[in-house]
Amino acid sequence: MLRAIVGLLVSSFLLPGVHGRPQAQEPSQVALGSNAVGEWLSSTIYAEDGVHFERVQHSHFPKHQLRITRPKLCDKQVEQYSGYLDVADDKHLFFWFFEARHDPENAPLMLWLNGGPGVSTIASGLLFENGPCIFNTTSWRIEDRPLGWNEKVNIVYLDQPAGTGYSYGAGTTTTLPGVAADADAFLQLFLQRFPRYARLPLHIAGESFGGHFVPHIGAFVAAQNAGTSTGRIPVRLASLVLANGLSEPASQFATSADYLCGGGPYPPFAHDDRRCVAWRAATPPCVRMIETCYAYENNATCGAATAYCWPAVFTSPVEAVHAAGKNIHDLRAECEESAIPGNCYPQFDAISEWLNQTSTKRRLGVDQALDFQFMKSDIQQPFFTNGQAVLNSAALLVPLVNSGIRLLAFAGDADGVCNYMGIELWMRRLEHKHHAELAAVPPQPWVTSTGYHAGEVTAAGKGAVAFVRVFEAGHMAPYDQPEATLELISKWVDGEEL
Ligand SMILES: *[C@@H]1O[C@H](CO)[C@@H](O)[C@H](O)[C@H]1NC(C)=O
Ligand SMILES: *[C@@H]1O[C@H](CO)[C@@H](O)[C@H](O)[C@H]1NC(C)=O
Ligand SMILES: *[C@@H]1O[C@H](CO)[C@@H](O)[C@H](O)[C@H]1NC(C)=O
Repeated sequence: MLRAIVGLLVSSFLLPGVHGRPQAQEPSQVALGSNAVGEWLSSTIYAEDGVHFERVQHSHFPKHQLRITRPKLCDKQVEQYSGYLDVADDKHLFFWFFEARHDPENAPLMLWLNGGPGVSTIASGLLFENGPCIFNTTSWRIEDRPLGWNEKVNIVYLDQPAGTGYSYGAGTTTTLPGVAADADAFLQLFLQRFPRYARLPLHIAGESFGGHFVPHIGAFVAAQNAGTSTGRIPVRLASLVLANGLSEPASQFATSADYLCGGGPYPPFAHDDRRCVAWRAATPPCVRMIETCYAYENNATCGAATAYCWPAVFTSPVEAVHAAGKNIHDLRAECEESAIPGNCYPQFDAISEWLNQTSTKRRLGVDQALDFQFMKSDIQQPFFTNGQAVLNSAALLVPLVNSGIRLLAFAGDADGVCNYMGIELWMRRLEHKHHAELAAVPPQPWVTSTGYHAGEVTAAGKGAVAFVRVFEAGHMAPYDQPEATLELISKWVDGEEL
């Protein structure tokens, strides 16, 4: 009851101020309602540097607030919002939301996260991979992307953990449970402010290290949904989507040497290459150490597994591939050097420079003083020293799948960072209620509506869980296969089998 009333008041209050020419220069505040248990949601319109913001506060999250502005840089025909979730005085998460291009009242809602940790979702996910807008590095302009995922879903891109991309503040988040709590607070304030999206099924999607973020966020949201805490808006969590994700490191590391040394479709090294011999020798001890971390999860076990596995089975192959002139994120390609260390996509240099421009920041409601960087290693480092990178995030998926939340893992098969063989392995091993069926079923060809043989699909539970291998695609499969991955995601959210 409260939510319906609140939603109505918010819309009628906002229309004159934000859609038309904003009148109020002085802050104007309206308390939007309260209910029997004393919850309230308030909205304040104010101007800063000629840009109009709305500040949203909710009594259930006394330390948090949302600052919203309405950019119109691209895909101008859809409703969009950008701004910040202020988690605390020293922690601010940037988001950019786009409504679906068709039937947004009924289209599902998706949260998309990139990895690293410390890689900007805005730079990588939104402007490069699957967003409504694409940055054209020739014309140096932001343009509409015809195959943006908001063709199908309402989508919000979040720069997190705190300090990543346009997010800022000295208050860092250095653990996966911390990431989950911050993302949950974002979803709560966003859905409280826009209750029309809270009616929609939510799909939480993440790439690369997002394979750790997404299960943690999903588990946190599901636990809060089931809890007795008052003042929360229920989240209709429908599915989790992992894109070339790192979720179960033991399986991922177990397959790495094999994938790179003859077992994968684009092997950069021969089976008996001396480096391959060394990586294969390091694999069993690495896997045992990660399994010890799974069994006895603490700093000592998980820190030790990270300290052994990362150099021996991750960094060493990454550097060898780089030295061979290949792109580890897409083994089909030669490396085109970028200013970002170890990265072979010069497009990211241009995107980062554009995001660092004063005019861009101003139009998105970002502080001029913020120094935009594509990747922040000081955000990444603590996740490794705390052993977070080798946690078994996949284990969190079991109760979620058993409770009816659907699970999709897709993987471009040219990726040498999170290779598809490791993802397929843990997807087949994961012991949820569809395990027996998924472990037994052979991969089926995945052919798109245009007749293109886009990959292979292994699915069970009438499409409740699916692993999809994407052909001719690397770590950023939506960038390499925009048409096929949009069709994949469209069918997935509709619950249609491929
Ligand atoms: C980028 O801009 C250039 C120059 O305006 C144009 O020729 C090209 O088609 C654009 N690229 C894309 C992918 O739209
Ligand atoms: C971003 O721009 C500022 C000046 O506006 C500059 O000092 C800084 O070096 C730039 N950052 C990057 C990563 O280029
Ligand atoms: C784990 O170690 C890191 C430093 O490496 C420290 O910051 C953190 O507090 C430790 N966590 C626990 C649970 O001991």
